[in-house]
Order: sequence, then structure tokens, then C-alpha cells
Amino acid sequence: MTARRYRSIAILSVLLGLAAQSSARADTDPEALVDALTAVFGKHEGKRVGHANGFCVKGSFAPTAEAAGLSKAPHLSGKGPWPVIGRFSMGGGNPAAPNTDKGNARGLALHFDLGGGNVTDMVMISSPVFVAKTPEKFLDFLQRVASKDQAKIDGFFEENPESKTQGAWLKARPVPASYATVSYFGVHTFTLTNAAGKRQIVKWRFVPKGGEVGLTDDEAKAKDPDFYRPELAERLAKGPAEFELTAILGEPGDATDDPTALWPEERKSVKVGDLSIAALENDATCDAGIFDPTNVVDGIAGPEKDGIFQLRSPAYAISFSRRAQ
Ligand code: HEM
Repeated sequence: MTARRYRSIAILSVLLGLAAQSSARADTDPEALVDALTAVFGKHEGKRVGHANGFCVKGSFAPTAEAAGLSKAPHLSGKGPWPVIGRFSMGGGNPAAPNTDKGNARGLALHFDLGGGNVTDMVMISSPVFVAKTPEKFLDFLQRVASKDQAKIDGFFEENPESKTQGAWLKARPVPASYATVSYFGVHTFTLTNAAGKRQIVKWRFVPKGGEVGLTDDEAKAKDPDFYRPELAERLAKGPAEFELTAILGEPGDATDDPTALWPEERKSVKVGDLSIAALENDATCDAGIFDPTNVVDGIAGPEKDGIFQLRSPAYAISFSRRAQ
């Protein structure tokens, strides 16, 4: 897997992203969102505008036998293992965002190498929901945060109570002891189609095989704010960090276009694969392109009416074009 391949994917992504910009359903300009993120977190040359603090890893993914029953996507219906490049990160555009912050979502982004130059991506966070229901609301939120006016920020949550769910979810859980000991969620609803044409709506969740492990508030306070990287290096020296990919099966009536909406807890899950993170990877490999949640393959479709999903690709392309300059 060469950096060159990722460079060409990145350039293509920028072009596709900018094309998507003109056809995106939402009215909010992705550039306005990137500018608003920059206003909140400041300009950091060469860094991502979102999830700036992170690092690159590599490993592999193998589907279960059940996965093909849900999707004809090559990495779910073929044998594997498929090589994977990944990036763990902290939410927000602060390159020094502390690993000890309970209220911040952790990120996991993945490129699956399908061979022949084809790559498909997944981009997840450690919460099942996003903070804003639409790009318009996300822009409003960021602009109020940038104003540093607490009354305006509080007002946003009063006017948009659905935006409280993410913070409440994160704060109800401990600081993850490691990037390898927390679940990651795809947040959006994807429609899977199998070889027989059967469709199923799902949400993705990567569950750590060793269980979810957190720190007490005192343990977190005692940690170095950038402890995740050395922690993972030490862990991987002993063996891979493993996750199960599960597809949470949606039912009629479940929200498909609202990234702030939780599905009922009793929804069934199917295990569709095993992700094994084996080693750290040179950060340049991850920085040479974007992880694009809309880069899906036949057998997986993103939500057409979820404005947040539609805005991500063009926003990431703009962030990439600025950090690559
Ligand atoms: C309209 C809403 C959103 C905007 C404007 C936005 C913006 C961004 C930007 C500008 C980047 C940096 C891209 C780059 O330079 O490569 C980024 C990265 C990221 N975002 Fe978002 N984001 C949005 C929604 C979401 C959602 C819903 C999720 C979770 C499901 C998410 C998870 C991530 C992750 C994990 C990364 C880091 C990817 C990496 O490691 O390269 N974002 N976001």
C-alpha cells in the first residue's frame, strides 16, 4: 500500500468532494463549516481542522460468514483478511486536545484496501450520536462557541435539546483507558444490500474485544495529556488490539436521517467482522488523503437525506486542501 496511491485518492477525493458540494442537498456551505471550526480551534498549519490530535495505525479486517447475508460489499462478502490503515484521534481542531478529556469524542477512521487500487472507508466516533442534527444547526453551534458567550452556547442547547445527547453519553462514561478500550460508532444509518438484493438498514459499532475499560477521574488526572500513543505502542508490542464490527439492525420507523437520534437499545446486532490493529504506522500515510465516510462500495449506501452525512465529504476535502498546502 503506497503513499502514492493515497495521494491520488486524496486528490480524487478533493475533486469529488468539491463536485458533491454543488449537489449537496443541505444549504450550508461546507467552507463556512470549515471556517467556523477554524474560528473555534484556531489555525494550525498542516493539521486537520477536525480531529487534529491523532495518529496512524495499520492492521487487517476479516468478515464473518454472516456478513455476506447482509451485504455484497467485497470486504464483507469476500474472504479477507483485508489490509487496513486507520487513524485514532481526539475530536476538535486542537492538535493538543488532551487524551484525558471525558467530554470529547474519540475518533477511529479506517481505509480498507480492497485491492486493485480500490479503497473503502469508515469514519467513526466513540458516541452513537453527533452533536447537531443538521449542518445549519452545527454551523450555528460552532459560531456560538466561537463567540465564547456562555449564554449563547447554553441557548443553543435549550433551543436544540437533541444536541444534549452526545455530551450526556460521553460524560456518563469514564475516560477510555486506551483508544483500544472504547466502542466506536458510525452514527449515520447505512443501507446494506446482499447478493440477492435484500436490503437492511444498519448502524455500525466497533466493540473492543477486551471490553470497554475506563479510568477513574483521579487516574485520568494523573495521566500525561498525550498518553494514548505510548499506551497503544506498549499494548501492540504484546499483541494486536482487536475489535468486533457489529451491524445494529434497524427496524421500520427507526430514524434514518437524524445523526442525533438513538435507536431503541433492544435492537439486535449481527457480528460482521474482526478488526485487528497490529502496529503504529507512519503518520504521513494517514495524512496523505482524507478518510471519507461517503466513500462506500456497492452493497453499502449512505443516508441520502442526512444533511450532516452529505456535508462531511466536501468539508473534509476543504480541510485537506488547506492542510496540504
Ligand atoms: C457536518 C458535520 C461535520 C463536519 C463539518 C466535520 C468536519 C471535519 C473535518 C474538517 C475533519 C478533518 C478532515 C481532514 O482534514 O482530513 C474531520 C475529521 C473527522 N471527523 Fe468530522 N465533521 C462532521 C461530522 C462528523 C461526524 C458525524 C463524525 C462521526 C461519525 C465525524 C468524525 C470525524 C473523525 C473521526 C475525523 C478524523 C478523521 C481522520 O482521522 O482523518 N465527523 N471532520
